[in-house]
Amino acid sequence: MEYETLLVSVQERVGLITLNRPKALNALNSQLVAELNQALDQLEADAGVGCIVITGSAKAFAAGADIKEMSAFGFPQIYLDDFFAAADRIGARRKPLIAAVAGYALGGGCELALMCDFIYAAENARFGLPELTLGVIPGIGGTQRLTHALGKAKAMEPCLTGRQLTAEEAERAGLVARVLPAESLLDETLAVARGIAGKSLPAAMMTKECVNRAFELGLNEGVRFERRLFHSLFASADQKEGMNAFVEKRAPHFTHR
Ligand code: CAA
Repeated sequence: MEYETLLVSVQERVGLITLNRPKALNALNSQLVAELNQALDQLEADAGVGCIVITGSAKAFAAGADIKEMSAFGFPQIYLDDFFAAADRIGARRKPLIAAVAGYALGGGCELALMCDFIYAAENARFGLPELTLGVIPGIGGTQRLTHALGKAKAMEPCLTGRQLTAEEAERAGLVARVLPAESLLDETLAVARGIAGKSLPAAMMTKECVNRAFELGLNEGVRFERRLFHSLFASADQKEGMNAFVEKRAPHFTHR
């Protein structure tokens, strides 16, 4: 499938989506969000894909929602259209999703990264929610996901001041899983993605589901949920293969079912 705002490829069970509006620093307009959902639909439906990476350019992962598109919007139309509701589908994906962030991840760009399962950042990455400067607030979950990730104090300060967090600071605060040299960011992220994609897909998807449930359930309910999914995996071909391979001292060959 061809896209105007994205580049999409699949290699070694990894789907790679590159945001591609360089003249607008990958600002998220309606077309880009729609195409991103189409690309994710395509990759989620592809049995040959076990992990998805979203990245941008060396200068910008994404510099936010498209301000030029939004500036003329009015209420109640933006409310009636439920503008940006489509973006919620990005965060509801079931296959593992990694953000490889270099340069600016501001506003909606930061929120997009936060919707991924984890973030690898180049040393030059900058994370921020500058919406207050524009007379609005974050609209794609930034106040919620940043607070879940960092806690109130560490989240409230950049939300209210618009201050950008450096990659190193973001890693220390728990927003970013790892900081990598800019020149190897994508290669290292793809290598990690290949590792995940090589594992049993149902087990990887259930792992993601369990970790995400930790934000919604109390500890006992969460542990019970995890236990039920753990039990269910004993009906999978991959459980037999993974455990037999260990006993037989060989590498497993998962069929991802
Ligand atoms: N929307 C639309 N266009 C954008 C954009 C955005 N969010 N960010 C950058 N651009 C455009 C610029 O207008 C410029 O276009 P022109 O060449 O046509 O003027 C081009 O991208 C390059 O940008 P700059 O010349 O500004 O580049 P810079 O290197 O000087 O600055 C920057 C980079 C600091 C990221 C600056 O572009 C900037 O501040 N961008 C806006 C960041 C922002 O406020 N993001 C939040 C958006 S609101 C939001 O996201 C709401 C939400 O939660 C849903």
